[in-house]
Amino acid sequence: MKGIILAGGSGTRLHPATLAVSKQLLPVYDKPMVYYPLSVLMLAGIREVLVISTPTDLGLFERLLKDGGDLGMSFSYAAQAQPNGLAEAFIIAEAFLNGSPASLILGDNIFYGAGLSEVLRSARERTTGCTLFGHRVDDPERYGVAELDAAGNVVNIEEKPAQPKTQIAVTGLYFYDANVTALAKSLRPSARGELEITDLNNLYVRRGACRLEMLQRGMAWLDTGTPGSLLEAGQFVQVLQARQGMQIACLEEIAWRMKYIEAEAFEKLAAAYGNCSYGAYLRGLLTALT
Ligand code: G1P
Repeated sequence: MKGIILAGGSGTRLHPATLAVSKQLLPVYDKPMVYYPLSVLMLAGIREVLVISTPTDLGLFERLLKDGGDLGMSFSYAAQAQPNGLAEAFIIAEAFLNGSPASLILGDNIFYGAGLSEVLRSARERTTGCTLFGHRVDDPERYGVAELDAAGNVVNIEEKPAQPKTQIAVTGLYFYDANVTALAKSLRPSARGELEITDLNNLYVRRGACRLEMLQRGMAWLDTGTPGSLLEAGQFVQVLQARQGMQIACLEEIAWRMKYIEAEAFEKLAAAYGNCSYGAYLRGLLTALT
């Protein structure tokens, strides 16, 4: 399975903070936002990742993440020329995917909680259909909203409905089988002129091939869409990290724990950081884990 991070958009709700820099590069406490979704793909066991962003911002992502080799990963980059919708990612990624199943994560989605790695791994291991993740929210009208039957199967998903039928938001993390590019190509633009991820997901629903995994209350799915929610996400990370002395979305640590890199390579990465708390944390891990 290969991964895609979609980090486009103009972040208008965060202006002026995002006038000159992509939203997904803004810090969430002590690291760039895109680290968080990237860490999710890494924990899912996905090692080849395509980052899609706007033509203007793509170079910044490349400067930050490089080719991924240092982390035992492989990163590629592709531009989305126009904001044609999230489902266009699979058309842009066609050559990269080369017929492989795909996981897509939106560059502004943050997940944290016990058992996340297991949930991710089992989604990755499913070879047919798609797996979506539902989370109960107070403001479902801002999201894709899932409607379920009595057995808990998805019967329909509505994108930002004025009158949501449930409070189950479909999060920005999706796993698809190898049919995804062909299905994305069959979509027609919505009323707002975009290839909608919700329309793609509904194609799987209609085929009886959509599985919704509910993320329970112990799992945090954080919003970063407004100045207030971005600050709160940062505070959440700060509080947990300070209390536990453990980093959230520390890419180097994950690469080492997942055995994508050896201790020696990790040591080099840790040494390359100067006098910052992140570097100190990495160097501390070396002593603790070797
Ligand atoms: C997008 C999707 C929506 C999903 C949300 C999750 O919305 O269209 O279905 O629930 O991401 O973050 P956007 O954030 O682009 O408005």
